[in-house]
Amino acid sequence: MDSLIITGNGPLKGEIPISGAKNSALKLMAACLLTDQPVTLSRMPNLADTRFLSELLSSLGVEVYWPRNDSTCHLNAAELKSTIAPYEQVRKMRASFNVLGPLLARMGHATVSLPGGCAIGARPVDLHLKAFEAMGADILIEQGYVKAAAIHGLKGAEIEFPFPSVGATEHAMLAATLAKGTTVLKNAACEPELADLADLLNMMGSKVSGAGTSTITIEGVEKLNGATHTVMADRIEAGTYAMAVGAVGGDVLLKDAPSEALQAMCDVLAAAGVETIAEPEGLRVKRGEGRLKAVNVDTQPHPGFPTDLQAQFMALMATAEGVSTIRENIFENRFMHAPELSRLGADIIVRGKEAVVTGVAKLKGAPVMATDLRASVSLVIAGLAAEGETVVNRVYHLDRGFERLEEKLGACGARVQRQSE
Ligand code: EPZ
Repeated sequence: MDSLIITGNGPLKGEIPISGAKNSALKLMAACLLTDQPVTLSRMPNLADTRFLSELLSSLGVEVYWPRNDSTCHLNAAELKSTIAPYEQVRKMRASFNVLGPLLARMGHATVSLPGGCAIGARPVDLHLKAFEAMGADILIEQGYVKAAAIHGLKGAEIEFPFPSVGATEHAMLAATLAKGTTVLKNAACEPELADLADLLNMMGSKVSGAGTSTITIEGVEKLNGATHTVMADRIEAGTYAMAVGAVGGDVLLKDAPSEALQAMCDVLAAAGVETIAEPEGLRVKRGEGRLKAVNVDTQPHPGFPTDLQAQFMALMATAEGVSTIRENIFENRFMHAPELSRLGADIIVRGKEAVVTGVAKLKGAPVMATDLRASVSLVIAGLAAEGETVVNRVYHLDRGFERLEEKLGACGARVQRQSE
């Protein structure tokens, strides 16, 4: 298993190109199942997760042409040979579950393993399944599999989510494109990835409006075409590097970062003493001398502060002046990084949904271990800010969502080395 060796090396200076968004790319890839014509996605992030989904799509019969290190992926689901996504594949990556809706909508049936829980929480899929039932699908759960059928096709429906689930909104939107009649999704998630997915679907000939707001309307069509689409830039990757600059200081341009989508984070960083400037080329992040100030944060659905930046922000607060309370409202178990940050000298007390971080003057390098993607990168940020050497183990978590991390940070002066075993 690879590990990263990080040696604190002072401020970061330069430019970091932001890759395509993992959490958008995975749903855009699933959309290819809705049509028998080619779908081409550019600015595709080369990540363990996107590569993994491309393998699952191939096993369903999708022709995938995506050379290594190429950021354009060609998908052609002209002939599907299977509508089954087995446990082994869905267990490894939850987003594989997203093939269910498109298969059901196009083929009239699908059998997909339930994803199960993961390190950050139970993460049920009940809202996904209720949405499909509302659209007329018969859902049977048997031996850990969801067997879904809509022999005469899905029907448009009005669906009000009890809370704005990103996955359930995206999944219902994908399936509704081929349903008979109009579907209205209320209390829908407003994350920017929803608008990115709607853009591709509309290029494919669907009629989706309101994506990115809490009410989305989808007028079903009979058939979808192929399309070419550029994946939106990854706001979480950009936010992560912004936190890294915040932690060690410097001046970095995050090229192509979607500044608007990061407003909540920019407001919090400003309160802490980190400057962010939206420029035509991306988001510039600057921090001068002096300690940051502690700021309280509450994770919320978009446009609130994103849960996917909570761990990174905790690393930043570890050395801020004062006491910061960080409340996690989206997932029930997303503080696994706290004890690892404490190994570097951070003072963090976790009480239920809240973590109370009392800033210390300095962190000190140590070996640490991560349990999920964002937790791992928070340890990288803390390692950059720490004195001495930090070894982050289980780097495979990082490889799921950060493209060329050590290269991007290295270009700005950081000393991050990968060690393969
Ligand atoms: C997406 O997960 C992202 N994943 C997550 O990113 C992100 O943290 C999350 O949205 C919130 O922004 C992908 O896009 C692949 P939800 P998702 O449905 O869709 C509960 C990362 O690090 N819930 O909005 O699974 C659920 O348990 C990952 O890149 C139900 O109870 O998030 C959670 O507590 C981690 N029933 C809350 O809702 C359901 O049917 C929000 O989940 C669905 C969700």
